[in-house]
Amino acid sequence: MKYRVFATRPMPHAVLDFLAPQCDVQMQDQDVPVPPGELERVCREQKIEGLLVAGGRVPAELIREAAQLRVVANCSVGYDNVDIGECTRRGILVTNTAGSLDDTTADLAFALLLAVARRVTKAERFLREGQWKHWRFSLLMGSDVHHKTLGIYGFGNIGRVMARRGAGFSMRILYHSRRRAPESVERELGVEYRDREALIRESDFLSLHVPLTTETRHLIGERELGWMKPTAFLINTSRGQVVDEEALVAALRAGRLTGAGLDVFEHEPKVHPELLKIDSNVVLLPHIGSATEETRTRMAMQAAKNLLAALAGERPPNLINVDALRA
Ligand code: DGY
Repeated sequence: MKYRVFATRPMPHAVLDFLAPQCDVQMQDQDVPVPPGELERVCREQKIEGLLVAGGRVPAELIREAAQLRVVANCSVGYDNVDIGECTRRGILVTNTAGSLDDTTADLAFALLLAVARRVTKAERFLREGQWKHWRFSLLMGSDVHHKTLGIYGFGNIGRVMARRGAGFSMRILYHSRRRAPESVERELGVEYRDREALIRESDFLSLHVPLTTETRHLIGERELGWMKPTAFLINTSRGQVVDEEALVAALRAGRLTGAGLDVFEHEPKVHPELLKIDSNVVLLPHIGSATEETRTRMAMQAAKNLLAALAGERPPNLINVDALRA
């Protein structure tokens, strides 16, 4: 008997070939969210044992319907889309794809940083719209990146590779994290630890790399935005809810910071209408941090390996809820 698996989005052929000998894989055939209620129905009626989740939520109500479910293999490093507590209580293992998207996500964070500092998207629109009539000394002036201070909030894998990118641009690099990194890591990466207020106050570019948890929701709100230098930029490639978007809009409008580069939003895919209106110093991207051919394929394969290990009764390499093993 093969394991019964459902994938919430189309998966690469290599992944389907990998799973085929041991799994019957049903799959959402379009790269769009599974319609509401459909996932519950499939899990219940098809007695799904393993979910391969690429986008979409796995709430408690779904988990309760999915009586045979044993593993939720998330194709992402973040797992705030899954009700971990409910999974753990029911002994359902949850995994992520930590480690496979660090460089790709840091690349995009740095791309946002450069784009907003040097007004790349604004400048391109200016050219395409036929507004470029002659060279001007003061045309589309931005801010230097090199030799500025990069503040990294959250110093896990992605935060650390972000530090390497900053070093390549001769930046001074500060970080804050719940746990301070070992001295050897600080030395190797050339970074200095700061408490959260000092980090925010000293940064020219504040880049967020924390997971979304109850503690990090609205981590950057009115008070923190007030600590930023008026010349500073906020970069967010983590999760939208980490930033209080209403407070960010107010701070941008009031000039309490110079700009923001955002790949994630509080109510994705809805973007705050006021953010859409501010186009000279804000760069907005549709959550594409890890979206490269190579990385998305690697993430899907990593999720499939986690899934198969869990279904085979082994401990999957990227297990999030260890307590589920004891449930
Ligand atoms: C992640 O891996 O968490 C990315 O944001 C994709 O959801």
